[in-house]
Amino acid sequence: MAFERVGVVGLGTMGAGIAEVFARAGLRVIGVEADAEALARGRGHLERSTARAVDKGRLTRERQAEILGRVTLTTSRADLRDADLVIEAIPEVLRYKVSLFEELDRICKPETVLATNTSSLSITAIAAATGRPGRVVGMHFFNPAPVMKLVEVVGTVVTAPGVLQEISELAGRLGKTAVAVGDRAGFVVNRLLLPYLNHAAVLADQGVAGRDGIDAAMRLGVGLPMGPFALLDLIGLDTAYEVMGVLFDETRDRRHAPAPLLRELVTAGLLGRKSGRGFYDGEPREEQGPR
Ligand code: 3HC
Repeated sequence: MAFERVGVVGLGTMGAGIAEVFARAGLRVIGVEADAEALARGRGHLERSTARAVDKGRLTRERQAEILGRVTLTTSRADLRDADLVIEAIPEVLRYKVSLFEELDRICKPETVLATNTSSLSITAIAAATGRPGRVVGMHFFNPAPVMKLVEVVGTVVTAPGVLQEISELAGRLGKTAVAVGDRAGFVVNRLLLPYLNHAAVLADQGVAGRDGIDAAMRLGVGLPMGPFALLDLIGLDTAYEVMGVLFDETRDRRHAPAPLLRELVTAGLLGRKSGRGFYDGEPREEQGPR
C-alpha cells in the first residue's frame, strides 16, 4: 500500500512530534484532538518545533510553511475516513485505546492500517477490539520523535506479515530504522531502559549520589546524551511511572516496581518538562556541580 494520507490521533508531545515526522517526509497529515483547546496546544507544538529548526538554520521558512501546510488539524475523527494509516498517541489507558480503535474501525476504510504508539500496553488487546486485527500494529516512536531514529514495529500473532513489512518500509521512508519486536510489555527499549531509570531514583533515595552526580556519572562515564534524571524529565515522570506499572503488572519483576521517590514526585504533580518541573526545575544545566 502507498501510504500518502496519515491520521494522527492525540497531539501531545509524542503525537505532534510524529505528525511532524510524517509531514517532513512529504505525507499529508490529519491531526485529531479532542477539543479546540487541545488542538491549539498541538498546533503550538508543531509550530515551536519547526520554528526551532528554522532558528538553527536547519530549515528554511519556505520549507517550514510547506511542512505545516501538509498538516490539517481537526476535532472530528470522521475526517480520518480516507486515511491510509492512522496512528494513535493518546494517554496510556487501555480502555481509552480500545474504545478509540473500535471507533476508528467503524470510520476508516477497510484497508486502512491502524497503529498505536503505545509504550507498553498490549497491541493484541487493542487489535482484538477491531474487525481488522491483521491490520493493527504497534509503531512506537521515541521522544523527541523528530530526532530519535528508531521505530519499534510491533506485530501480534494475528498481524498480517505483509502489513509489518509495509510499516517497516514506511519507517525507512521517514528516515527511521525499524526494529521488529513482539507484543510483550515495554517491547525492547522500555523493557531495558525503565528499570535503569527507576534504579537511578533508588540510588538517589539511598543517598549513593545526588541527582546531578548520577546524571554526570552516566553522561561522562558511559557517554549517554543525558543522565537518567534529565531523561526522566524529558519522557515525563507520569509516563515513566505508568509504563513501569504495566511492566510490573506483567512481569512481577521488582526491578519494575516504581521507586518511592518517583511516585512522590508524580503525586506532587512534578512531571518533568511538560509541567515545568520534575527532578529539575526547568532544563538541566550541565555546569551544575554534583549535588
Ligand atoms: N523536537 C524537535 N527537535 C529537537 C527536539 C525536539 N523536542 N529536541 C532537540 N531537537 C533537535 C535539535 O533541533 C537539534 O537538531 P539539529 O542538530 O538539526 O540542529 C538536535 O535535536 C540536537 O538538539 P540540541 O543540540 O538542542 O540538544 P542535544 O544535542 O542535547 O540533544 C536530545 C537533545 C536529542 C534530546 C539528546 O539529548 C538525546 O538524544 N537524549 C536522549 C533522548 C532519549 O533517550 N529518548 C528516548 C526516550 S525513551 C522513549 O521515548 C520511550 C517512551 O515510550 C517512554
